[in-house]
Amino acid sequence: MPSDSSLIDNLKYAWFGLRSIGLPLILRSLRYSFEKTYTDLKYAEPIKPRGGPRLWWQAIRTFNQPRPAPPPFDSFQQPGPVQSWQQKNTTLIARCQAACLQLTALSPQIIRVRLNEGGNFNIPFSYSIEKPDSDWPSHQVELVEQDAALLFKTDVLTVRIRKQDAQIDFLDAQAQPLNMDGGGFGWREGWVGLRRSLPPGAPLFGLGEQAYPLNLRGHQFELWHTDPGGRYRQGQNPLYQGHPWFITLNQNRAFGLLLDNTHRSFFDLGHRQPDCCTLTAAGGELRLYFIHGPALKDVLARLAALSGHMPLPPLWSLGLHQSRWGYKSKKMVQEIARQFRERQIPGDVIHLDIDYMKGKTGFTWHKGRFSDPAEMSQRLRQDGFRLVSIIDPGLKADRLNDIAEQGKRKGVFLKYPDGKVFRGPVWPGDCYFPDFTDPAVRIWWGEQYRILVEAGVSGFWNDMNEPSVFGLGDGTIPDPVRHSYEGRGADHAQTHNVYGMQMARATREGVSALRPEQRPFVLSRSGYTGIQRYAAVWTGDNESSWEHLRLSISMALNLGLSGVPFVGPDIGGFFGAPSGELFARWIQAAALFPLCRIHTAADTPSQEPWSFGPQVEAITRRAIELRYRLLPALYTAFWQASQAGAPIARPMLFDFQDDPQTYALDDQFMIGDSLLVAPVLAEGERARALYLPQGQGWVNYWTGQFHEGGQTLPVEAPLDCLPLFVKAGSVLPHWPLIQHTDQARTLSHIELHLFAAEGQSVLYEDAGQGFGYRRGEHKISRFVCRPTDQGLIITVRSQGDYITPYETVVWTVHTAAPIAPSAITADSLPISDWSVDAERCTVSFRIPISQRLEIMF
Ligand code: GLC
Repeated sequence: MPSDSSLIDNLKYAWFGLRSIGLPLILRSLRYSFEKTYTDLKYAEPIKPRGGPRLWWQAIRTFNQPRPAPPPFDSFQQPGPVQSWQQKNTTLIARCQAACLQLTALSPQIIRVRLNEGGNFNIPFSYSIEKPDSDWPSHQVELVEQDAALLFKTDVLTVRIRKQDAQIDFLDAQAQPLNMDGGGFGWREGWVGLRRSLPPGAPLFGLGEQAYPLNLRGHQFELWHTDPGGRYRQGQNPLYQGHPWFITLNQNRAFGLLLDNTHRSFFDLGHRQPDCCTLTAAGGELRLYFIHGPALKDVLARLAALSGHMPLPPLWSLGLHQSRWGYKSKKMVQEIARQFRERQIPGDVIHLDIDYMKGKTGFTWHKGRFSDPAEMSQRLRQDGFRLVSIIDPGLKADRLNDIAEQGKRKGVFLKYPDGKVFRGPVWPGDCYFPDFTDPAVRIWWGEQYRILVEAGVSGFWNDMNEPSVFGLGDGTIPDPVRHSYEGRGADHAQTHNVYGMQMARATREGVSALRPEQRPFVLSRSGYTGIQRYAAVWTGDNESSWEHLRLSISMALNLGLSGVPFVGPDIGGFFGAPSGELFARWIQAAALFPLCRIHTAADTPSQEPWSFGPQVEAITRRAIELRYRLLPALYTAFWQASQAGAPIARPMLFDFQDDPQTYALDDQFMIGDSLLVAPVLAEGERARALYLPQGQGWVNYWTGQFHEGGQTLPVEAPLDCLPLFVKAGSVLPHWPLIQHTDQARTLSHIELHLFAAEGQSVLYEDAGQGFGYRRGEHKISRFVCRPTDQGLIITVRSQGDYITPYETVVWTVHTAAPIAPSAITADSLPISDWSVDAERCTVSFRIPISQRLEIMF
């Protein structure tokens, strides 16, 4: 019997389903729940395929069983003593009594460990790993034999393999322990697993999308992508995308572990045993990557080198996205766009949810509601709006659905082991599901986007791709259903966790083929390690509550620490209705998030910036204006992510690893290198405390007041204020206010705000569209600010061929106390015209783009 809470959840799910999909589909979903269990049982090992009424009866009795759990790790079989070994270049094979271990040093900081009973280590295939072994630069590895251990040494790491039991420790160059074995590597009944010790007290981060506070230590997680069906709560797991990766620190030295295994997995991060983590997977090979830092940013850079970088998205996708399930007609969409412009609230994107489709099935238009989509999108474009449209993987199984019929003829859909095409219910009713792990199917799928591309749709939103199939219990495709897995053949149990990522891949590749000159924008609900190569992600169906506002921050930060920089929540909450205050605080908190999208469910009250009265409208406008003014800084953070895997929204410890006070902070975060955002996250609060990391000064963005680092500061935060600080020494670029990003092409000038102190910063610029940047059409400006006895010297070194639309720079220098410059020169030429604001302690002047400024006091 299901437990009470899961029974209540199931009832809630059924109620939500009833409201949004109607009784016939509910009944079909119920039937599907049994069908799925029937299929799972029918092909279950070691039972031979069977069927009939007895199996149906068994399916009905067992359909909502608890999910499979791993056997106790202590009962896993272990490789046993090392008996012989062999080194070839950077690889070591240790033959043990009962299995073989293979260690490969891909780089001096990245070690891969594989366990194989037979010792037959073929070239590993992985959807998560982008870089083949052969692409890593060569480096030296030394093998040292000791009495009790083998030492496998790179320039920076020593891997110690204990001869007695093949346990493996990772030590740094000074032979100090980084990560010690906590119980070995093992296997049992098809499961594989490992146990490692955890540094005492160290926080753990990552695991993709988890509805938890930032530090994941002390909890256990299942990695099996799941649509919770209704709203999710804090502590609910699994959700839409768990990633088999975490990162931690041992006495300030960071490292990460990636379990490269797509099967249902379990990560116990110090839950049962506080000083150990136990990672298990329900099948496949045991393949673990150890990635050393010692800086967090180096670990993330190496994860990106391994699993791929986020390509630069089009600039428009950094604008505000307005969405709701329920923009049901062209008229409504046009009205939303009109309101934005009339009310002078900047915005770039409107999303079309399943309402635009005919019968909710993919690659169709509801011609009654959206009579001429091409004309609609063209008109919106003239007004600076782009469309993003939703696509679910399931295509309606209906003779009248040409695409599904064509797909069936071409054999693109998933099949049961007996060759029958799999069907499962989603929004349109029974659907077929493409096999995105088949390269030919990905191409076929990509071509289907033509109808949307020709209608002028700019971006694509991949939903329900866990994949979600309506049914009780584990609402997805049955485990035995077959997938191509790039021609290797696999069942759904192995493929499930990468299905959504491969859908996003097919979408991205398809749209790129249809519009090769444009940067694609894909938004995906599901994902896995590597999803950043294909799509941005959002945190699914949250709710309008203060708890979810807070969660949206820790969830986005942990996704960032999992290598996925382009993230954001449904601002305002999906289920329920936010109060004006909650909406105001949410849009402030998310104003500088990488993805800034307002979205809500069907039948909820309207959730546009003006839906909560003039006060909240003004606050929302101010938050969105802040975003648009700071777009050059945000875009620079996107570029850094695309180069080195750095998160865009970063937990405080990312840049301030030396300051342990930052480790526990998950109610404030950094955007890029220099902006500290400390949103208000509780109802009625009009002030809060925030921590300014030590090592440099900080400046209140709104008041210009300078503060020392290394202190907790109380700040006023009336409803219209988002507490925001800038790292002293930074140059913070601003654009003049624009209403949409197309206007960035004709900027008359840029504003550079220098917060005077010793420091360095970078500004990245390009056309914001197309791929010219890959051919050098970009501009990277590096600023160095040096205070001297006489004043300040600012040098600007620029590289790249991009010619900015503006030729003028408006500099504003912010200082701790009022200054009265005696002279200012730009490239040695004196400037005669500057203005001083004694109250705000600023001096401003307008000059052509220059390389060296001197401000004399
Ligand atoms: C799913 C999505 C949500 C969308 C809805 C209807 O619940 O997560 O964003 O609005 O489906 O398509």
